[in-house]
Amino acid sequence: MKLFKKILLIILIVFIAIQFIRPARNTSGQALPTDITKTINIPDKVLDVLKNSCYDCHSNNTRYPWYVNIQPFGWVLARHIKNGKENLNFSEFGTYSKRKQANKLRSVRKRVKDGTMPLPSYTFIHTDAKLSPENKKLITDWVANTKDSIDVIR
Ligand code: HEC
Repeated sequence: MKLFKKILLIILIVFIAIQFIRPARNTSGQALPTDITKTINIPDKVLDVLKNSCYDCHSNNTRYPWYVNIQPFGWVLARHIKNGKENLNFSEFGTYSKRKQANKLRSVRKRVKDGTMPLPSYTFIHTDAKLSPENKKLITDWVANTKDSIDVIR
């Protein structure tokens, strides 16, 4: 019993200690000239869906949820954001070559179709970010209409 209490106390101390380790926030607050809206044609309806379901991990502006203040959950989110932005950043879409832009769009369609994006671990908590069949179609149709109009340099 004594040992059990000691272990609990240690866990509590570690839990409190890690609360002080907070990753930097991903909130630049400004629309860059390289933003996707300034690079390719994107209807407002599609943009709204992307903002609601993807931008937390794929842009320079995350809307932070309350649990970010509780570690280690904040760390997990920070990792997803870092990884997500490295793979696809809608705020810096204009820095990609035409070929890369077309490839990323193709990849967007694939991930939306097969349901691997947004990350299931994310929609588990952010239920409103889950894509309805209509919103999925909105995105895949937009990609189908857009990717060919990006003249890919071969
Ligand atoms: C919780 C964070 C998160 C959200 C929300 C999210 N993603 Fe991702 N996404 C990631 C991470 C992390 C990766 C990299 C790991 C991987 O590929 O699974 C990634 C990778 C991708 C890739 C692969 C890029 C490539 O180079 O092939 C695409 C495409 C993508 N996401 C699209 C989307 C779209 C579209 C949405 C919204 C409908 C979305 N993601 C929502 C975290 C997220």
